[in-house]
Amino acid sequence: MLRKDDLIRKISLKAEDFYKEKDGRPVDFLHDWGHVTRVYNACLKIMEFEIKVNRIEVLVAALFHDIGRWYDQTKPHAEVSAQMTKDILLEFSKELISAGANPEKIVNLINYHATAHNCTHEICDSLELKILADADKIDMFGPVGIIRVSASYGDKNPIEKSVDQLHEEAKTDNFTLHTEGGRKVGLYYKEYLIKFNKDLNAQIEDLGTPIN
Ligand SMILES: [Fe+2]
Ligand SMILES: [Fe+2]
Repeated sequence: MLRKDDLIRKISLKAEDFYKEKDGRPVDFLHDWGHVTRVYNACLKIMEFEIKVNRIEVLVAALFHDIGRWYDQTKPHAEVSAQMTKDILLEFSKELISAGANPEKIVNLINYHATAHNCTHEICDSLELKILADADKIDMFGPVGIIRVSASYGDKNPIEKSVDQLHEEAKTDNFTLHTEGGRKVGLYYKEYLIKFNKDLNAQIEDLGTPIN
């Protein structure tokens, strides 16, 4: 039987290939292997504080959670990612089960990772989903998050609107981290983003007064 670490390594090699630029598939650099790696490592850090969790299910879900963005941009990416992962994991299902992980649950974690704060499926009460969602959210915070949010939003909207957007998001669940571990790992990055938003606002007020 494979050691759990070896199994994760084997699955990770498989996952990485799906995030590569090839065969003319649309590239999504905001959700590339770099993003996946950061989410994976944030999950590991969060799980240092969360003991009663199925680590393999969280880590495998992290590896595939945004895979669908590279393949079909016409449907919700979580749904596409879940469907693709279901097929890919068939190859590993025996090994996953013998390592104590449920492939079906991994698929559900992926299916609901983007709507974790607002879903009624039983998976949404699981610690595994909360950890994955927190880790994914932390990549929207801090310096990396600022670049990612600006890249997806900033070039199509005036900068003033980005400030409004961040203020709006700060009031919603988008800024809420749901696990104790998530708050420990993400607090610095979240505060960094909030401070950046204040500084951005101040610069716009200071230098953006109307020209008479
Ligand atoms: Fe996602
Ligand atoms: Fe993501």
